[in-house]
Amino acid sequence: MHNPTLAQLAVPWDGDRDDTLVCRAVRQETHDVKTFVFSAPEPRLFRYAPGQFITLELEIAGQAIQRCYTLSSTPSRPDTVSITVKRVPGGTVSNWLHDHMQAGATIRVRGPAGSFSCFLHPMPPKQKYLFLSAGSGITPLMSMARAMHDLVLDADIAFLHSARTPDDIIFARELELMAHNRDGLFRLGTVCERRGAQAAWAGFNGFLSLAVLQNVAPDFRERKVFTCGPAPYMAAVRAMLAEGGFDMAHYHEESFSFETLAPAGGDEAALDGAGFKVTFSRSGDELACAPGQTILAAAKAAGVRFPVSCTQGLCGTCKTKMVSGQVDMRHAGGIRQREIDQGWILPCCSKPLADVVLER
Ligand SMILES: Cc1cc2nc3c(=O)[nH]c(=O)nc-3n(C[C@H](O)[C@H](O)[C@H](O)COP(=O)(O)OP(=O)(O)OC[C@H]3O[C@@H](n4cnc5c(N)ncnc54)[C@H](O)[C@@H]3O)c2cc1C
Ligand code: FES
Repeated sequence: MHNPTLAQLAVPWDGDRDDTLVCRAVRQETHDVKTFVFSAPEPRLFRYAPGQFITLELEIAGQAIQRCYTLSSTPSRPDTVSITVKRVPGGTVSNWLHDHMQAGATIRVRGPAGSFSCFLHPMPPKQKYLFLSAGSGITPLMSMARAMHDLVLDADIAFLHSARTPDDIIFARELELMAHNRDGLFRLGTVCERRGAQAAWAGFNGFLSLAVLQNVAPDFRERKVFTCGPAPYMAAVRAMLAEGGFDMAHYHEESFSFETLAPAGGDEAALDGAGFKVTFSRSGDELACAPGQTILAAAKAAGVRFPVSCTQGLCGTCKTKMVSGQVDMRHAGGIRQREIDQGWILPCCSKPLADVVLER
């Protein structure tokens, strides 16, 4: 029975040892977004920087599959963590979670990890922030906003969220509640492409623009910007801020789609010399990996599709069994020592030191 005593509650979640979460509740946020609330099988306290993510390690249709999801929850409520997942048409994991993840189910996870958090940067008193998000990209910013709300920090947040219609705004009521509670320290703007079913929509119509930004946060040049959303949205945000004369040294973003990310430690590598051969034992694909090039960089260059998220050895999404060979792997916590001992590697941060055969 899940009935913790205070003494038990003092035990912190240890990402190196603990890897199982139990789903405690599922909440329908919008027609295609659900929040899944988890706690550990035995009571644990979760410590993480608001905005960090966990990696789910699933087995779907007999295939091991991993995906990153931001913790939309806040560490100021440390007994549980939650992820908020949008259904991606044709997507394997998002649809599986929506269709199968229920209260009582267990799941294996890795993390938390990631560096997209204003809490990992200096926070002087009365720091001003501009949070810009679109769609499910709201999750890391929601975690940061929830933490600032709960901790009653004096940070000043302008939060501009974009959605397709008013009914697609995730956390709409909680955003309004935070704006009410933080009284002047939380300016909320929502921008919708279409009114949808809500004729009386009072927010902004169309797309985020400099005019909308100036309306909600005329002092935006004084703010630190944190942005998360689809790649085209973030490209538009960067262009808008540049047009508005914003100093991009104060700009931070996180992408949920790997296509926009450059592989770490590979592109700039010296590509001359003999290099090594990388063979995929299942597909039969072969890659020529230049000296100093990561396996992921070589795969991308060869047009071989590879499951990746962070590309920096953080999340574990690309984890693959190495059947033979030797690599120089510079990971950032995305793999456990016991997995390395069993022959697993992270190709996004691994450079071959010999010909390599991967089980893929
Ligand atoms: C750090 C981080 C944090 C994230 N946080 C969140 C979050 O808070 N909430 C959230 O909803 N998402 C989040 N994501 C995105 C999430 O990890 C998944 O990428 C997303 O849920 C889609 O996964 P999926 O398995 O459903 O889709 P996938 O199966 O990966 O498919 C994605 C798309 O690619 C297409 N596709 C699949 N296979 C192929 C193929 N072989 N060829 C061509 N196209 C193909 C699919 O049709 C679909 O359109 C985050 C990602 C990262 C990296
Ligand atoms: S893609 Fe994240 S560890 Fe390789």
